[in-house]
Amino acid sequence: MNKETGPLPFDKENIPRHIAFVMDGNGRWAQKRGLPRTAGHSAGSESFHKAAEILAELGVRHMTVYAFSTENWKRPLEEVSAIMGLLEKYLRRSIRELVENNIRLDFWGDLSPLSPKLRKLIDQTDELSKQCTGMQVHVCLNYGGRDEILRAARALAQDCLEGRLSPEDIGEKELEGRMYSHDVPPPDLLVRPGGEMRISNFLLWECAYSEFYFTDTLWPDFGREEIYKAIAEFQKRNRRYGGLSR
Ligand code: IPE
Ligand code: IPE
Ligand code: MG
Repeated sequence: MNKETGPLPFDKENIPRHIAFVMDGNGRWAQKRGLPRTAGHSAGSESFHKAAEILAELGVRHMTVYAFSTENWKRPLEEVSAIMGLLEKYLRRSIRELVENNIRLDFWGDLSPLSPKLRKLIDQTDELSKQCTGMQVHVCLNYGGRDEILRAARALAQDCLEGRLSPEDIGEKELEGRMYSHDVPPPDLLVRPGGEMRISNFLLWECAYSEFYFTDTLWPDFGREEIYKAIAEFQKRNRRYGGLSR
């Protein structure tokens, strides 16, 4: 299914503004094929690139992807190094193409433990893509939802200590202003391929009223058809935000 064939299974006027993805299932995708897990991560990066292009074409404003969690360091060093290596390769190869498509890439997470080489590449990516005015892609790297909230809490404490803020003035806006996601609307739709039905420390604050979509499809197989299905399902939901049905 693509834009040239057949009618769209959803209303083009009601596209989610922000879609977040837990890019899960790469390892199992590879294992099913008798390949090393790293082959799954490589296929996963292709899947990411295609998904970004499709979302941009649909007019989605923000795409957030979970690429590496604060817990993923528990994996064997070999796998962690391979993931970081793939990320480097991806950025080197694809950043220009994303910029040509007016797609902006930025990174959410604690980048300090990453290699200087990768950090430099991330800085260059920021620099190159900051002129882009189209879809924004937020790559969560060494990201944890708890860590994000903790850092914001620490920043608030520091501001209070130094007299810039008093505790009674702390509201949601003050906390949100100190998070990675500070200038981005919360995800309307949060998609998790790979069959697990959990949040795994992703966007804990931001997903308070996101619609969740789970599927057994593994991330490297998650293509246009799956994206269309998720959006169609999203459009059937009745978002009440604690109020009554519209
Ligand atoms: C997600 O795929 C990618 C990362 C966590 C970096 P996995 O590697 O978790 O794949 P599965 O869940 O083992 O299949
Ligand atoms: C979540 O997947 C993290 C990323 C996709 C980057 P995991 O594979 O790490 O999650 P768990 O361990 O199954 O909860
Ligand atoms: Mg997994």
